[in-house]
Amino acid sequence: YQSRHNIVFGVGNPRARVMFIGEAPGRNEDLQGEPFVGAAGKYLNELLAIAGLSREDVYIANVLKCRPPSNRDPRPEEIQACTPFLREQTRTINPEYIVTLGNFSTKFILQTNTGITRLRGKIHVTGPFRVIPTFHPAAAIYDRSKIGAIEQDFDLIKLLLDTDAAREKAGRDDEEANHD
Ligand code: URA
Repeated sequence: YQSRHNIVFGVGNPRARVMFIGEAPGRNEDLQGEPFVGAAGKYLNELLAIAGLSREDVYIANVLKCRPPSNRDPRPEEIQACTPFLREQTRTINPEYIVTLGNFSTKFILQTNTGITRLRGKIHVTGPFRVIPTFHPAAAIYDRSKIGAIEQDFDLIKLLLDTDAAREKAGRDDEEANHD
């Protein structure tokens, strides 16, 4: 925390159905105190639109709450220091889906060494959460061959949310019919 300008705790809807978890704040995030506000964040906003979502619908956080100096890889003691905050965030928001953005957050949340390329695009279950890993938006900006896959993952998120919503509506309609 010693070199940070701001804590980047997390932002969004406390009743979000979907929570996004990235790695750590970058330069812009550190200066503004909000996750995903730089180039990766702008692309994340576009990806959210593919899933029919806006930033107001979702909750966005990172594993680390402070920017590592020069964006170096998070250290084990930093991860350990930030984990209680992330745990409380996931418990409090209690989302239907957690979308892990990139290798680091995916490995951390799923507690696996398997790489993102093999894990992405599928639903994984960990504890009470359904987890959808996808590439980090910054990775897709840097390597445009990942764009098709990352956008497909956001199509999947839309499909899941629409299907769940349709199922809930059908359940409500059934209940109403039973009362008629
Ligand atoms: N990359 C991340 O993983 N998190 C941010 O908040 C910004 C960029």
